[in-house]
Amino acid sequence: MESNGVDHASKLLESQSHVWNHIFSFINSMSLKCAIDLGIPDAIHNHGQPMPLSKLISSLQIHPNKTQSIHRLMRILTHSGFFSKQISSKGDPESSYSLTDASKLLLKDNPMSLFPFLSAMLDPILTKPWYDLPAWFKNDSPTSFYMRHGMALWEYAGIEPRLNKFFNDAMETDTPFVSSILFDKCKGVFEGLDSLVDVGGGTGTMTKALAKAFPQMECVVFDLPHVVHGLQGTGNLKYVGGDMFDSIPPSDAIFLKFILHDWNDEKCIKILKNCKEAITRSKGRKGKVIVIDMVVDDEKSDGDNKSIETQLFFDMLMMVEVNGKERNEKEWANLIFSAGFSSYKINLSALGLRSLIEIFP
Ligand SMILES: C[S@@+](CC[C@H](N)C(=O)[O-])C[C@H]1O[C@@H](n2cnc3c(N)ncnc32)[C@H](O)[C@@H]1O
Repeated sequence: MESNGVDHASKLLESQSHVWNHIFSFINSMSLKCAIDLGIPDAIHNHGQPMPLSKLISSLQIHPNKTQSIHRLMRILTHSGFFSKQISSKGDPESSYSLTDASKLLLKDNPMSLFPFLSAMLDPILTKPWYDLPAWFKNDSPTSFYMRHGMALWEYAGIEPRLNKFFNDAMETDTPFVSSILFDKCKGVFEGLDSLVDVGGGTGTMTKALAKAFPQMECVVFDLPHVVHGLQGTGNLKYVGGDMFDSIPPSDAIFLKFILHDWNDEKCIKILKNCKEAITRSKGRKGKVIVIDMVVDDEKSDGDNKSIETQLFFDMLMMVEVNGKERNEKEWANLIFSAGFSSYKINLSALGLRSLIEIFP
C-alpha cells in the first residue's frame, strides 16, 4: 500500500517536472540569444584560453549592477552544452569558461556561423505568430504569420527590408554546411549536367558554390524579384527574378533546397509540375530534380530522440510561418507521383537531419 503511495507520488512529481520543463523550454532559446547578443562566445574566443569569469564580465558592456548575474546565464548555458567550465586546480575559486563545438558555431566570424540563423528565427516578426496559433486552429487563415502580419511571409519580405535581409542572411548560413558535404560525398549527383536552376535560391550563396564546384555547368539563381534585385552574376552564374508558380527557366536539373517544406501539397505539386516542364524542355527524360529537405520518420521508436524532436520543431515552424510541412517518405512519394514523375531515389541521411532526393521524369 505504502509502496503504491510512494510510486504514485513520484510519478506525480515526475509529471510536474516534465510540465515545468516544457513551460520553460523557451528559456533555453532566449538565454542563448542573450549570450550571443552580449557577445559572450566571441569574448571567450578572443581571450584565446579558458576565460575567468571576472575577465569575461569586464569584457562585456553591461551595467555594473548586473555583473553578479552573468554567472547565472553561464550556468544554464554550461548545463545545456554551450560552454564548459573549468575550476582552477591551484586553489583559485574562480571558474573559467571555454567554448564547446556548439558555441563555436555561433561565433560571428566563423564561416559556418549559425548566428544569423539564430537572430532571424528568434526575431519577434517570427516569434509573435506563435501567440496566434490557437486562434489559427479555429479560423480559416492560412498561417499564424498571416494572422499576425496580415500577409504571407514572402509578401511581407517584399515590403519589409529588415525581414528580407535577416531572412536571406539566415538562409545563407546553410551553404557552407550543405556544400562541404554535398560536394564531397554526393558529387555524382551533379555529374553530366550542363545546366541547373536553383529555384528559390535566395541571394545565391549555394548556387555560387555549385557554379564554382562544377565550372562546366551553367547555373541560374531563380527567386522572387525583390530577392535577386540588384544582384549581378559572373561567369557561369546568372540571376533571374520570377515566380516559380508561373514558370521555371528550362534546365537539365532543378535544385530545390528548403523549398518544398514551405508549401502545402497542392502548391508543391504545382511547383514540381513546373520543374518537370522545365527539365523536359531541356533534357527530356534525362533531366532531374534535386531536392534537399527533411524526410521525417516519426514512427521510428529507436530513432535519436533529439533529431526527431528537431525535425518536429521544423514541422511546427513550417505550419506557423508559411503553411508548409515536413514530410515522411510516403508523403514525398505522393507528391512526386502526383506531379507526374516516374521514380525517385532518396539518400536518407545525406545531410544529417535532411535528405537528398533525386526525382526523375
Ligand atoms: C526557405 S528559403 C530557401 C532559400 C534557399 N533555397 C536556401 O536553402 O538557402 C525559400 C526561398 O523561396 C523563395 N520563394 C518564395 N516564393 C517564391 C516564388 N513564388 N517563386 C520563386 N521563389 C520563391 C523565397 O524568396 C526564399 O528565398
